[in-house]
Amino acid sequence: MSVNRCMHVLRLQRRMSVLTLRSPGALPDSRVCYGGTTGSPISLGFSRDVSSNSSPPTTPDTSLFVPLAFKSDCSVDGSVGAELTQPLDKSELLKILNRFYKKKEMQKLAADQGLDARLFHQAFISFRKYVLEMTSLGAALHIILNDICCGAGHIDDIFPYFMLHAKQIFPMLDCMDDLRKISDLRVPANWYPEARAIQRKVIFHAGPTNSGKTYQAIQRYLTAKTGVYCGPLKLLAHEIFEKTNDMGVMCDLVTGEDRTFMDPEGRAAGHVACTIEMCSVSTPYEVAVIDEIQMIRDTSRGWAWTRALLGLCAEEIHVCGEPAAIDFVRELMYTTGEEMEVHTYQRLTPFSILDNALESLDNLRPGDCIVCFSKNDIYSISRQIEIRGLECAVIYGSLPPGTKLSQAKKFNDPDDPCKILVATDAIGMGLNLSIKRIIFSTLVKPNINEKGEKQMDTISTSQALQISGRAGRFSSKFKEGEVTTMHRDDLPILKGILSLTVEPIQTAGLHPTAEQIEMFAYHLPDATLSNLIDIFVSLSRVDGLYFVCNIDDFKFLADMIQHIPLNLRSRYVFCTAPINKKQPFVCTSFLKFARQFSRDEPLTFDWVCRHISWPLPPPKNIKDLVHLEAAHDVLDLYLWLSYRFMDMFPDTALVRVIQQQLDDIIQQGVRNITRLIRATDPAGADPLGRGAAASPRVPRLGGMPLERRGNSLASRLVKDGLLTPDLLRQLQSEWFKEVVPQGQEVARKNKKK
Ligand SMILES: Nc1ncnc2c1ncn2[C@@H]1O[C@H](COP(=O)(O)OP(=O)(O)OP(=O)(O)O)[C@@H](O)[C@H]1O
Ligand SMILES: [Mg+2]
Repeated sequence: MSVNRCMHVLRLQRRMSVLTLRSPGALPDSRVCYGGTTGSPISLGFSRDVSSNSSPPTTPDTSLFVPLAFKSDCSVDGSVGAELTQPLDKSELLKILNRFYKKKEMQKLAADQGLDARLFHQAFISFRKYVLEMTSLGAALHIILNDICCGAGHIDDIFPYFMLHAKQIFPMLDCMDDLRKISDLRVPANWYPEARAIQRKVIFHAGPTNSGKTYQAIQRYLTAKTGVYCGPLKLLAHEIFEKTNDMGVMCDLVTGEDRTFMDPEGRAAGHVACTIEMCSVSTPYEVAVIDEIQMIRDTSRGWAWTRALLGLCAEEIHVCGEPAAIDFVRELMYTTGEEMEVHTYQRLTPFSILDNALESLDNLRPGDCIVCFSKNDIYSISRQIEIRGLECAVIYGSLPPGTKLSQAKKFNDPDDPCKILVATDAIGMGLNLSIKRIIFSTLVKPNINEKGEKQMDTISTSQALQISGRAGRFSSKFKEGEVTTMHRDDLPILKGILSLTVEPIQTAGLHPTAEQIEMFAYHLPDATLSNLIDIFVSLSRVDGLYFVCNIDDFKFLADMIQHIPLNLRSRYVFCTAPINKKQPFVCTSFLKFARQFSRDEPLTFDWVCRHISWPLPPPKNIKDLVHLEAAHDVLDLYLWLSYRFMDMFPDTALVRVIQQQLDDIIQQGVRNITRLIRATDPAGADPLGRGAAASPRVPRLGGMPLERRGNSLASRLVKDGLLTPDLLRQLQSEWFKEVVPQGQEVARKNKKK
């Protein structure tokens, strides 16, 4: 490594540890703490060495090494080579080069220098092209080649020139050791020197759902002078924020898009409730609560729990979660040299799995919550419920928080006629709702696997327990929880799932930081951010207790804005924005924001209003509602960015006002969601017109999905006046009852597939 590079890397490393100290908690923060002249992570001398189960140095995935265009500098030599010898015979050269390529010894020598077969081949093609197409080669190479042509030189003499060429087009070959060092993630406990400087007391509150784990931790948090609550959902952070203030303890709320300070002058209160990604690892607290610790194994978000657990600067860390995480957290605490106390709890209310499936929506009772895993199922089921003259509340992930809260309040309110809830597993963690019975409409859920691919999986025991745990909450009027399925043949499967013990947690997530990526970029200045990340992950070494989180969403955004000129730090921050990539409007807005930002033009309130066409009218149908939800997400994105680039997103307060108004408009729409569904699709089964996206459990009629009836005979009959919508609804209800067994058959076949 050149002196300049060394200096730069050292500067970056120094800056990185400074940033660690000042980390605002907004990013997966900086961490590796290098020391001395060797650049190896500082050992803080704790008793247990966990590197024994570390992964060996990884063989990089060389398919990620994108060759650069070769830049020749032989103009310095001009045609000296040819003048000293003679012009080269190209056909002779071609033969010599091909012999060089086929020589096993050359391939072996190249492999020793990091060129595997793939890279050797690519480097050779590039080298051959250079030698054959350049009008003048460097003098030394020209002379060597001429000697070989004349029989006076050896073919092996080409190797140093070939290697020089290879390292120019694959610059990573020259700095592999540095890249390996930067991507060495083996001792994450050392990334948080401030937390390591204090002796923290760790208390694990373990137990099943609804056993009072969070309650007990919060009791201690309330009595502390300062405290932070870190939760998995905005809604949970909000619940704790409200409860804490209701108890007379001043508490702020911090989520990616929101900072609510109780002090009118904006001074931070002693207590804060936040989403876990946002917790500060540089602020000292007396008590920290980390809720739902089992999420540490989550393939996308696990890094945030790891960071909180290792990095929070609190005298007492209260960890709440499934018993399956106890041994693992204790193991992690060995690496920090901290002891852990375990408090175990039992369920506060009884809970039973029923012997009968619901079978028909006619059997719904007050306090029922139907759980689906797709929005389409939410729409179709709520419509079916309305057909039966019942009112229902709906909660799904993409609703704004205000709407979710108002729907939860409506359902919880004993005086409201709405007694049924239809929800996705957005309600599945820690929330307190007045549910008596959970009904799984399906047990199959789309998941993203470790490779980032979408697949349909039967829900895990942990997921099933979390969701079922919403029934019969201690604080609700239902003092006993029940769980069942919609379909008869799902019930034994659910019983099987719930009878299993949750697999003990084995690994925790990690995430590369902006600083690490910045150091990578210094070494590989021509690589794209997405490619840098790929190479980082491929080279990274983790201790056996950790894994690198899936970063496909990050890469998706990085690829989307690659062509926009941004400095690396800003590009990195943009790509960590939590965006639903399935929403085209949000994605195009992201692109527009980045473009405007790159032109150094502040994104003003007027600009944003024009962009989302504010003011927006109330929704007339589901498509309008989906658009409003996306517009809300765009404003969320604005607010999220405004906390990271205040000067470029200056109108936070104004945007927050219209976002609140938009939340109100959406609330109104959702209050009448069945009217919107009806307006979209009178047959009422697939308002988004995405039959294929509906869960496999949606009943089908004679192989034809009910939800596709928008263009069907039924809708034509209605259009031609041969069938009234009311008659159709009646028929639909009858079909529904008839096709449940048929639907089950289809689902069974689907599952087998
Ligand atoms: N000792 C108690 N006194 C009064 N209310 C309690 C007590 N313990 C728990 N609760 C209430 O019971 C409900 C369930 O408790 P809590 O949310 O702490 O359970 P949990 O074990 O964290 O559940 P989950 O695993 O679903 O997060 C909450 O509304 C909580 O306020
Ligand atoms: Mg809890």
